[in-house]
Amino acid sequence: MSTKFTGQDILLQAIKDGLKGDAHSFELRIRKFVNKMKAEYPHFAREVGSLVSDLGLLRSSYSKEHVLPSPVEPDTRQQLLIEKFPVNLNRTPSWPENTQRKVDRFLRERHRVEELLNEQLLPSRSLLMSGPPGTGKTLTASWVAKELNLPLLTLDLANVMSSYLGKTGNNIKSVLNYASSFPCVLLLDEFDAIAKKRDDETDVGELKRLVTVLLQSIDDWPLSSILVAATNHGELLDPAIWRRFDCVIEFDYPDREQVKEYVMSWEVSEVVADWISTGVTNTSLAIIEKRLLEAKKDVILEGRSIVLSLKDSLCLSGLPNDPDIRREVAYELHEKGWANIKIADELGITRQRVASLLKEKTELNRQELQGKLNYG
Ligand SMILES: Nc1ncnc2c1ncn2[C@@H]1O[C@H](COP(=O)(O)OP(=O)(O)OP(=O)(O)O)[C@@H](O)[C@H]1O
Ligand SMILES: [Mg+2]
Repeated sequence: MSTKFTGQDILLQAIKDGLKGDAHSFELRIRKFVNKMKAEYPHFAREVGSLVSDLGLLRSSYSKEHVLPSPVEPDTRQQLLIEKFPVNLNRTPSWPENTQRKVDRFLRERHRVEELLNEQLLPSRSLLMSGPPGTGKTLTASWVAKELNLPLLTLDLANVMSSYLGKTGNNIKSVLNYASSFPCVLLLDEFDAIAKKRDDETDVGELKRLVTVLLQSIDDWPLSSILVAATNHGELLDPAIWRRFDCVIEFDYPDREQVKEYVMSWEVSEVVADWISTGVTNTSLAIIEKRLLEAKKDVILEGRSIVLSLKDSLCLSGLPNDPDIRREVAYELHEKGWANIKIADELGITRQRVASLLKEKTELNRQELQGKLNYG
């Protein structure tokens, strides 16, 4: 009767992972195996343990010693992927609460891979994001790469799909192979390009093969890398594709609170941020960011008020009668050296009203300063 030695099943599983090229799972299982062997064969366990530590796959951050060269389009020799490492972001993404929760959970699974695998639970490896343009999908992919200290590889499928489908398939395969070969985040942007192409009946067979390749790749995706797909047209995606992804996040235009918070992060006063957030609908943060940047330039180049500039560019209906906003704008223009009569004209109020708004603002500033001094 054959008897099993300690950790035999784990070792077998590790060999399978190794043969599949899944270095990450391989390392985790070997570590577990070493733990099991420690009591019975301490010397051997130490030896195997130090071999694995030398490889350091689990902690491996970006190393340029990739097994494969970065894939290129065979005819044009152009790089298929844009690679970024380290990923730096100059602003933290702002998400609605449920999105924040999903992103945090995804990251937590990645940070605690070892604990999950020890319990034979497979951590998330893939993320599908759908939603309108400019709502933060690419930003979220960058955030994930940054938080996990992994390189971000981006493939714009819309570009690759323009070529002959047979060739497209090969290009996609080489990208997937490459990204599976070392720890990274692969972003497949414009993911619907594949689904859309299905309307083109000339090449249905080829396309089906392509979708099959993709489905297979998602299933076999190694633990060491993360596959992220983004699309503006989730409705065009094959339902089989949706099911394949471990985590799905649907993005939408920001709600009022999100816009307000975002605008305030640009050091715009709360009353103005509140006014903007009530005035815009179905507007992405990408558009709002663009308008804010333009408005800031207007302040410098045209001597305009940031509020009035935003009013025009975001098509906000006239300044509300809210005296707080009028006071902010009047003060801003006053600080820029505008005469009261010009401010009165701009805001459609009397000169006396301007004077009293400025007085109020000076008093508020004084109180604020006093408060700070007292607090300090
Ligand atoms: N949720 C967000 N939080 C903070 N900034 C955002 C957010 N959404 C968009 N932005 C700003 O808009 C820019 C563009 O966003 P991003 O490229 O991520 O949108 P997208 O959803 O990928 O759009 P597309 O579908 O057109 O590719 C970001 O770089 C960022 O400056
Ligand atoms: Mg994008």
